[in-house]
Order: sequence, then structure tokens, then C-alpha cells
Amino acid sequence: MTNGNKKCGRDYVRPGTGANLSMKMQTPLADTARELVADDKGLLAMDESNPTCDKRFAELGIPQTEERRRAYRDMIVTAPGLAESISGAILYDETIRQKTNDGRPFAEVLADAGIVPGIKVDAGATDLAGHPGEKVTEGLDKLRDRLAEYRGMGARFAKWRAVIALGDGIPTRTGIEINAHTLARYAALCQEAGLVPVVEPEVLMEGDHSLKRCREATQEVLEAVFDQLSRQGVSLEEMLLKPNMVLPGLDAPDQESAEAVADVTVRTLLRTVPAAVPGIAFLSGGQPAQLASARLNAMNVRFRGRLPWAVTFSFSRAIQQPALEIWRGDDAHAAAAQKALLYRARCNRAARRGEYGEAMENPDQSSRS
Ligand code: 13P
Repeated sequence: MTNGNKKCGRDYVRPGTGANLSMKMQTPLADTARELVADDKGLLAMDESNPTCDKRFAELGIPQTEERRRAYRDMIVTAPGLAESISGAILYDETIRQKTNDGRPFAEVLADAGIVPGIKVDAGATDLAGHPGEKVTEGLDKLRDRLAEYRGMGARFAKWRAVIALGDGIPTRTGIEINAHTLARYAALCQEAGLVPVVEPEVLMEGDHSLKRCREATQEVLEAVFDQLSRQGVSLEEMLLKPNMVLPGLDAPDQESAEAVADVTVRTLLRTVPAAVPGIAFLSGGQPAQLASARLNAMNVRFRGRLPWAVTFSFSRAIQQPALEIWRGDDAHAAAAQKALLYRARCNRAARRGEYGEAMENPDQSSRS
């Protein structure tokens, strides 16, 4: 048996077993989970794998080298004032080993700025054997050892993404159960290692499916995920959920208003996510940045005071894309790119408060530092 529990001080009674049911859980992991969703802040996902980062660089003609990836992440982690809107940043294996221009590890720079460093620990999705069109996420082999290493490098939370595609005959029940089981195995290992698991089951936007279809699939997936988390003894107070918003497919004829998306999304989550989970931090999934902010805002306006968990963001593209397009691989543009990054982060913090609106996107206002 490992001494993971002892190391991170998890000598408490598990939720649901009686003694601590009415008390706020006071453990280092529960504290970190709450810290990640405190003060109306959200997470910045900057954990694109090398192939994904290179793909985004290629689209803008940026050289796909380790050094350019480092320089890009340097621009992000050194953005002055990032911690005003961002509580935690998710790094990638290459990134957590890299340093800023002045030789400081990225995780240390983030922590010193008051941003909790996190790490993507899955190894990406691969075809699920015997189930055409479906994927399963890899990375459980030797995960215990990798988690210990990342913890030693300063990571305090982790992320694992499972993807569920919608199409003819998919997802199958088997596909959903395998991904839910895998997410729970990852989450249990994280808690053992002293890391807060961010559990990310993503129902993809690709396709022409309706809002209703996405709602049904998202509900089924979340039910399966929380069933597995419970069976595998994952402590709900010591994790965060990172789901998709409930949206019609990208090619669906009927696109819905931000209010309709907010209502269906929150109702689906209210049916499936236990109140013990401290926070829900959405992925953006390729939504335009402004739409992602507007939808998050609508949730926080329409359900203000009625939600058992914090509802926030853990966006990658919806925070980074404008900054990446300004930076374009040229460090002379770093300061302007940082301004754009901070601006989107601020918009999303405002959305958490229900204070985001089109006026914030006014160019006169957005050019203010
Ligand atoms: P997007 O916000 O670009 O979907 O990325 C979030 C993420 O972390 C995907 O795993």
C-alpha cells in the first residue's frame, strides 16, 4: 500500500459514512478544490498536447518547435495580473518541465503569482476496440508513478479528458461505461497521490445533433461517471467536474439562444451532479470565445443563488485563441497578446458573476488594460 493518504493528510471519514456528513470537509484536497473555484475565478487550460498545440501553431504559420511552444507558454504564465481572474492553470507534461525566459519553472512562477499549478495526465483518446466511432482515453499505466512525479514538481491538481462522440448508434452503453470507469480510476489515483482530480467527460460538439440529443447523452454520461466515482470511493468534496455545456451540434440547423443553453445545461447538471462537488468548470469545446462567455453568464444570471456548486470556466481556446492570433510566434507581440489573454480571462470572471455583457466586447473598452 502507498502512503499517499498519510502524505497529504487525508485521515478523515469518507463522505457518506456518517461522522462528517454535516461538516465542511477540511482536508488539503478539499481546500484546494474550493480554492480553485473561489472568488469568482476560473481555470485556464493551457495543457494542449504537442500535436494539438502544433496544429494550432500550423494554422497561424508559427514554427512547431519545442522552443516556440515554450515561448508561447512563457507569454501566458508571465502575463501580469493573470491571477486576478485565474485560480489555476493546467499544464502539459512538456510544459511543466519548461522554464521562463529568466530560467524559472513555469509551475513555480504560477504558484508565486497565486495560481494553482495543475497537470494534464491522460495520454489522449484512442479508438475503442470493437466500437467504431468511439474512443477511450489512455494513460492509466504507471499513472501512480507519474502522479507522484508531478506532485513533486509542484502540481496540486490534475486533469483527464474522456471524449464521447454523438452519431448514428453512438455512444454505446459500453463506450460510456468504459470511459466512466476509466475516469474514476484516474480520480481515485489522484486523490491517493494528493492531487485534486478534475474529471472531464466531454460530449463533443461535432455533428448535426439537436440540443435534446446532447442533453440526453450528457445526462447518461454524467450518471455513469458519478456512479463509477461512487463505486470506486472517490471523495466528491475533493474533485471538480469539467463537463461540456449542453449544445446543439455544430452543424445542427437550429442553434439556440444563450438562455436556452444555460437552462438546459444547468438542469442537466442539477439532475446528475451531487451537491458535495464544490465546482463545475466548463470546457469551451471550440465555441467562439464571446459565445462561451455569454452562455456561462446566462447560467450565473438565471440560476443565481440556486446552485449547490460554483459554476465557472476551465477554457483553453475560449481564453487563449485571441492571444495566440496576436502573438503568432513573434515575441515582439507578447505584451499585446498578454493584454488579449487577460481581457478574455476578465470577461469570463465577469460571466461567473453574471456581469458579462456585449458592452464588455466594445473595442473601446477591450483596449483598456
Ligand atoms: P477547450 O476549452 O478549448 O475545449 O479546452 C478545454 C480542455 O481542457 C479540453 O481538454
